[in-house]
Amino acid sequence: MRKKNLWYNYISIMVMVVLSGSIFARTAQFILPIDLSSLPPPYNSVKLKPLDLGGWNHTPEELTKLIQKFDVKTIVEIGVWKGASSIHMAKQLPPDGKVYSVDHFAGSPELQEGGYEDEFSKLYDQFLSNVIHEKLTHKIVPIKMRSIEAAESLKNLKPDMVYIDGDHSYAETLADIRAWYPLVAGHGILCGDDFSLKEGDVSTAVKDFCKENGLKYITKDHPETKEPWLWIIQVSPRTDRLFNFWQFW
Ligand SMILES: C[S@@+](CC[C@H](N)C(=O)[O-])C[C@H]1O[C@@H](n2cnc3c(N)ncnc32)[C@H](O)[C@@H]1O
Repeated sequence: MRKKNLWYNYISIMVMVVLSGSIFARTAQFILPIDLSSLPPPYNSVKLKPLDLGGWNHTPEELTKLIQKFDVKTIVEIGVWKGASSIHMAKQLPPDGKVYSVDHFAGSPELQEGGYEDEFSKLYDQFLSNVIHEKLTHKIVPIKMRSIEAAESLKNLKPDMVYIDGDHSYAETLADIRAWYPLVAGHGILCGDDFSLKEGDVSTAVKDFCKENGLKYITKDHPETKEPWLWIIQVSPRTDRLFNFWQFW
C-alpha cells in the first residue's frame, strides 16, 4: 500500500514537472526578450513591435494550392505591407524555400487616402517584427526597394512564382508585370491580387499585357465578394493544367 502511494507521488511530480516545463516554454517567448543579435540583417537592428498582421491576403487557399501543386520553392512578392501574405506563403514552402519580399515600405498612393497614413512611418519595423515573431527570418528576405529597381537587381534569381500586389494603378501594375515577367517567363507562375479593384485598373493592365504578348490569363474569385480577384498569366507550359482543366481548383 505504502509503495503504491510512493509511485503515485513520483508519477504526479513527474507529470507536474513536464507540464510546467512546457507551459514555461510557451510563455517564455512572450515574456523573455528576443535575442536580436542572433538574427541575420536587417532583422538584427529592428525596433521590435508586437505582432500585428493586419493586411489583405485575400486568397490564401488559392496561393497555398499554387505553391503546393507546382512545387514552388522561391517566390517574389511585390507589395508586402506588414507581411500577411509573405508570411502565409513562406509557411507553405519547404524548409529551404524563400520569399523575397519587395516593398519600398512607404505605402501606396491609394492607401494615402484610405486612413493608413499613421502606419507608414513604422511599416518596415512592423513587417520585420512580424517575421521575427513568426520565426521566419530564415525564409523571408526583405528587399526594401521600389519594385522596378528590385526587378533589375534580382534579374538572375529565376523564382518559381512572382506575386504582384503593389501599386494598383493601371500604369504601375502594367510596369510591374512588364518588369517581373522576364524572371518567370518559360518556367514559372506570374500572378497577382485585386483584379477587380477600383475602375478595373488592374484588370485592364493584365488584359493589355496579355494582348501585347499573346498570352492567356485566368482569374479566381474573391472568397467573399465573388468578384474575379486572383489573376494568373500563363507564362510557362509548367502551368498548362491550370488553364486547361477546371478541376485544378
Ligand atoms: C496592398 S499593400 C500589400 C498587401 C500585402 N500583400 C498583404 O497581403 O497584406 C501594397 C504595398 O505595396 C507597396 N508599394 C506600392 N508601390 C510600390 C512600388 N512601386 N514599389 C514597391 N512597393 C510598392 C506599398 O508600400 C504597400 O505596402
